[in-house]
Amino acid sequence: MTWTPDSWSGLEAKQQPEWPDPGSLESSLDRLRVVPPLVFAGEARQLTGALARVGQGEAFLLHAGDCAESFREFSADSIRDRLKVILQMAVVLTYASGLPVVKVGRIAGQFAKPRSSATETLEGRSLPAFRGHSVNDDRFDDAARVPDPTRMLQAYHQSAATLNLIRAFTKGGFADLRQIHTWNQEFVAGSKQGQRYEQIARQIDRSLAFMAACGIDLGADSALHEVDLYTSHEALLLQYEEALTRRDSLTGDWYDCSAHLLWVGERTRQVDGAHVEFLSGVHNPVGVKLGPSAAPEELEALLDKLDPGNVPGRITLITRLGAGSVEEKLPPLIQAIQDSGRNVVWVCDPMHGNTFVSSSGYKTRRFDDVLAEIKQFFAVHQAHNTVPGGVHLELTAEDVTECLGGAEEILDTQLETRYEALCDPRLNARQSLDLAFQVGEMLQG
Ligand code: PEP
Ligand code: CO
Repeated sequence: MTWTPDSWSGLEAKQQPEWPDPGSLESSLDRLRVVPPLVFAGEARQLTGALARVGQGEAFLLHAGDCAESFREFSADSIRDRLKVILQMAVVLTYASGLPVVKVGRIAGQFAKPRSSATETLEGRSLPAFRGHSVNDDRFDDAARVPDPTRMLQAYHQSAATLNLIRAFTKGGFADLRQIHTWNQEFVAGSKQGQRYEQIARQIDRSLAFMAACGIDLGADSALHEVDLYTSHEALLLQYEEALTRRDSLTGDWYDCSAHLLWVGERTRQVDGAHVEFLSGVHNPVGVKLGPSAAPEELEALLDKLDPGNVPGRITLITRLGAGSVEEKLPPLIQAIQDSGRNVVWVCDPMHGNTFVSSSGYKTRRFDDVLAEIKQFFAVHQAHNTVPGGVHLELTAEDVTECLGGAEEILDTQLETRYEALCDPRLNARQSLDLAFQVGEMLQG
């Protein structure tokens, strides 16, 4: 079969909404086919290059953001605060490890969600599941849950505005290392982690002052004043992704211009399925989620399809096995990759294998399980002489109470205080910074 942007459409596509109005769907897709790309092919290639360095152990990947972005969280403050947490964590990781940190956000496009169940039941009433704001609304009523294709257009426009501000913040002075103190949000600054961050920030201040005193022109080096924050989301809604796929005029290759990196989720990574077919033909870097059921033979077949050229940086394997399963499940996957001589980037998603419903009824995760899975990931890679390349996290800059534990010891009874997640529970800003310090220590070790 020869690949085209729509060659997926002959195959089984799981997790697709049933749009009730074909006319509205077609006009939304027609529009998306002609709008400007959100990202450029050259940027996606640059990320592939950066990920290739991660795979060699020359950089570390911080891949983080919301489980599901929200149409309601659409303000300059929200975007700036999400950027602050990522910048803070990256500073902590770089300072600890001496490695550059490649920053990829689950941002500017993470609006579609796969669901374990097609329905959701509350107090005896069942409705179609919420599938992300690019499909339907999270409000629990019949009308809200009807898939509306104009939401894909809204997702595109919100992604464009978000990315526009990210570009302004990251290139226009906000990400300047001399701004390092301003990234510490007020409610974080008073905590133990916030103070530890301030110490590092002061040491970096002193280093900059020292270099300036030595006569180095700090103003001349853009690395001190700008960062690259790449965008990513799960390539779930194939009609949306196809409509934003463009041919690069420089190389003639196809790129999905909805984000720099796209990943295929645990529920849609069937080797003969539509999602893998679609991703096999776009030249963006591609992530593959691997849960505890992933078999080594399956992984080999997937990589033969997604990366026949074994291109460094093309494939990031995001394992989400669950604390306690890593030591059993990860070695056979590593072995398969070693035996086939493949270049991949190994990344740990310590979130999705550790979700459970607590006795108070909230979907949550324990900070200690998250940390434990990362520790096991590092240990297993060390034992196999492979590179633990990065972490994939669900977090927010807000002071939410969605994950249990951490230094502030959030209890089950406190989850209701500020539980705002649209989908999965996220680490709050303090827990995120706490985690960055602990991962930094693992990188030093
Ligand atoms: C996610 O990343 O939000 C997600 C649904 O992950 P997975 O496909 O690994 O379950
Ligand atoms: Co999630």
